[in-house]
Amino acid sequence: MSRLVVVSNRVSIPDPTGKGSAGGLAVALREAFQAYQGLWFGWSGKVSAHPSTEPKMVDKGNVHYALMDLTSIDRQEYYNGFANRALWPIMHYRLGLSEFSRADYAGYLRVNRSFANALARLIRPDDLIWVHDYHLIPLAAELRALGLTNRIGYFHHIPWPAPEVFGTLPGSRELLRTITDYDLVGVQTERDADNLRRGIVQELGATQRKSDLISLNGRQSRVKGFPIGIDVAGFQQAARRPATHRLVKQTIANLGSRRLIIGVDRLDYSKGIPERMEAFERFLVSNPDQRGHVTYLQIAPTSRSEVPEYASLSRTVSETLGRINGSLGEPGWVPIHYVTSTYPRSVLAGLYRIAHVGLVTPMRDGMNLVAKEFVAAQNPEDPGVLVLSKFAGAAQQLNDALIVNPNDKFEVAEAIGDALHMDRAERVARWQRMMKTLQDYDVSWWADSFLKELSGHKGVSKARSPVPIGE
Ligand code: G6P
Repeated sequence: MSRLVVVSNRVSIPDPTGKGSAGGLAVALREAFQAYQGLWFGWSGKVSAHPSTEPKMVDKGNVHYALMDLTSIDRQEYYNGFANRALWPIMHYRLGLSEFSRADYAGYLRVNRSFANALARLIRPDDLIWVHDYHLIPLAAELRALGLTNRIGYFHHIPWPAPEVFGTLPGSRELLRTITDYDLVGVQTERDADNLRRGIVQELGATQRKSDLISLNGRQSRVKGFPIGIDVAGFQQAARRPATHRLVKQTIANLGSRRLIIGVDRLDYSKGIPERMEAFERFLVSNPDQRGHVTYLQIAPTSRSEVPEYASLSRTVSETLGRINGSLGEPGWVPIHYVTSTYPRSVLAGLYRIAHVGLVTPMRDGMNLVAKEFVAAQNPEDPGVLVLSKFAGAAQQLNDALIVNPNDKFEVAEAIGDALHMDRAERVARWQRMMKTLQDYDVSWWADSFLKELSGHKGVSKARSPVPIGE
């Protein structure tokens, strides 16, 4: 039986107490790992002065985890630098925030090469290899250079921008070339797939055969949309449990008769958090009768705090929050509650269920699973309303949400008002249609359809030259 080998920057090892909250990818892969024997390879999250070139092996059930440490320079150049300061902003259309450095790019390629060297020694000829996300784009090219002919797939969890945007990044042509070393490339939406295929054709002179097949130098890669889903039943079940967690109970007690508006996002500029706070401010200014009757809870766990753009966002959010709460708050009522801790999924599920409005208004997002989890958590008899950015991949599927342009705070403010006033019949009808989509395209559908397509692909991979370091 062929094994499934998953490679990602972060590796999520099951918590022996069972109390921890598994990350999105871990939940997504749980079933896939039941069907295949599994190996999950990636960064241990640790930094060491002299990391071993061999991964540390940890066995849990039928999955073996292979973990690599990085040096602090590797972490700085590969993770903080090229992945999160150059690639991440470009992929999210924030050209002005993208900071390219040749040293970071070389570090990114170096870590990908050292991961490939360590991984190649663990690979068997019939293993199916599934690489995840923008930290590891050149991995297949490095594995091919070592002679591996396995089927290798890549899933890109974040947006893929238009070629005119991606092309501004130094090194973008080389990265596009390395993409063609995968047999199958999955992205979140058809719009992303079209952007990526156009980029490969325009920049590399590849030919597009059929709608999703790209051909370059006799090698074929398929580039397709596979919108990632959630474990709908599991999330519904968590949301139905009576509120036992202190935070959910306290929130219910503090709300009293007030209605709850909720936002949950990593503290990231792509999520539009200050813009959303200003839209809520606009809503309160235009609807003075609502003051004291609604509370907006924003949960925003701190993220990538060593990257300067994230530290600067954190200051902007605090200033915006302080200004709005100071100018519109009253004794006994704080308009916006803001917390930066991470909460388990069960707590989030409970909070989504008691919320009347879910505010998911990223400036750009690959999919956004909070939007899907908010819908799944609702009470079928009396569901809350989702306000969703048109720039989240989820908006391609959840068109029964109130779809907004997050750049327009007047439009978002109006949508908040519409959501709070929507009658029950309309809320139920919209919710039912969205639930049907979530159930038809859940996380099992996502993993199964990607792996089926990857394993059925007949293309034979040729060994290629390694990726050059630097341009
Ligand atoms: C996004 C990316 C993931 C990443 C996660 C958290 O969802 O697609 O690859 O793991 O953000 O970011 P972090 O830098 O903390 O891993």
